[in-house]
Amino acid sequence: MLAENPIHIANAEASDARSEAHLQLTHLEKRYGDFLAVEDLSVSVRRGELIALLGPSGCGKTTTLRMIAGLASATSGAIRVDGREIQTLPAHARDMGLVFQSYALFPHMTVERNVAFGLEMRRNSKDQIAGRVAKALELVQLGHLAQRRPRELSGGQQQRVALARALVIEPSILLLDEPLSNLDAKLRDQMRVEIRDIQQRLGITTVFVTHDQVEALSMCDRIAVMDKGRLAQIGTPQDIYERPATPFVAEFVGRINKLPGRGTSANEITVGDRRFGTAGKGAANGAVTAMIRPHRIEIVPRGTPADNRNAAEGVITRATYVGDILEYMVALEGGVTLAVETATGGHRRNFALGDEVELRWAHEDTLVFGADA
Ligand SMILES: Nc1ncnc2c1ncn2[C@@H]1O[C@H](COP(=O)(O)OP(=O)(O)OP(=O)(O)O)[C@@H](O)[C@H]1O
Ligand SMILES: [Mg+2]
Repeated sequence: MLAENPIHIANAEASDARSEAHLQLTHLEKRYGDFLAVEDLSVSVRRGELIALLGPSGCGKTTTLRMIAGLASATSGAIRVDGREIQTLPAHARDMGLVFQSYALFPHMTVERNVAFGLEMRRNSKDQIAGRVAKALELVQLGHLAQRRPRELSGGQQQRVALARALVIEPSILLLDEPLSNLDAKLRDQMRVEIRDIQQRLGITTVFVTHDQVEALSMCDRIAVMDKGRLAQIGTPQDIYERPATPFVAEFVGRINKLPGRGTSANEITVGDRRFGTAGKGAANGAVTAMIRPHRIEIVPRGTPADNRNAAEGVITRATYVGDILEYMVALEGGVTLAVETATGGHRRNFALGDEVELRWAHEDTLVFGADA
């Protein structure tokens, strides 16, 4: 009986180590003169997790990544890896792989030498270097182009060389700063899948900086949304998209309609003289802003029997065919216009300019924020 105890404790410790933060930022701050580029930023990244830093241009994403990498010093706050404070460690001693938006490859070196560079700096043996470079190039499917120079590669291939160069040192943490922004839309889609696949196969803890919400939603385990140097919300893609904490997050992670209204109870708001259910997402009394995503609204012909959803009559003022979706603008009486998106399809009924229609959407798709939020 007694002998079992230490084993039990050892297992509990092992599982604690797995669930605890691998990389932890605590009250991190970066000041340039009077300007606060990053303010009170606290984020915990779990081992093996891919986390996005998402936000508009200038919100402090690159600054945060540079502090983690050791390329910029924090004004205050702490950066810990496995619980150990690393701020006194120089960049090269931090065991992190970096990929920047501009791949920063050496133009006069072959792909192979570019990837080997970091290992040569670390004084690995020639055999060891050759083996690891071959493995890294294999991982990004570039083995056959090892002798080319960067200018003889496409943008996507150069991006892969940069990724191989970051991975070849077998870092414990991978830092990616908008690595896909130089690629065309199709290649970007493909590289998203490839990077996610490599990240999961290696189980490597990764921080991925992007201003592209689709990239963040589709690739990452969790998203940290930044707004003017501060953390606006952190959560899974579903949390961020379905339960945005602030109007800023709601607007940044997808198209959204805004309606000025008043909260009358926890479950209802009024917009003009219309009443809309909010399924408990309502702020209490007072001025509110209701937000509804365009694709969560259905257009039905007037006179369609009422159901248990919110309803509002309107007139189609614009219809735009965008291939996979149709975008409508629908003017409600009283001056509010809502954007509506519907998937196109041969069997679907399309509406035309001037059609008198009714909009329907579920109570729980009505997000409500206090006017001061
Ligand atoms: N060395 C510096 N000196 C002064 N201000 C700086 C410096 N570096 C960055 N900043 C400012 O800090 C803010 C955050 O910059 P940062 O590069 O982190 O933004 P970002 O979120 O990466 O934006 P982007 O999406 O455009 O790359 C910006 O307002 C920028 O002008
Ligand atoms: Mg940046």
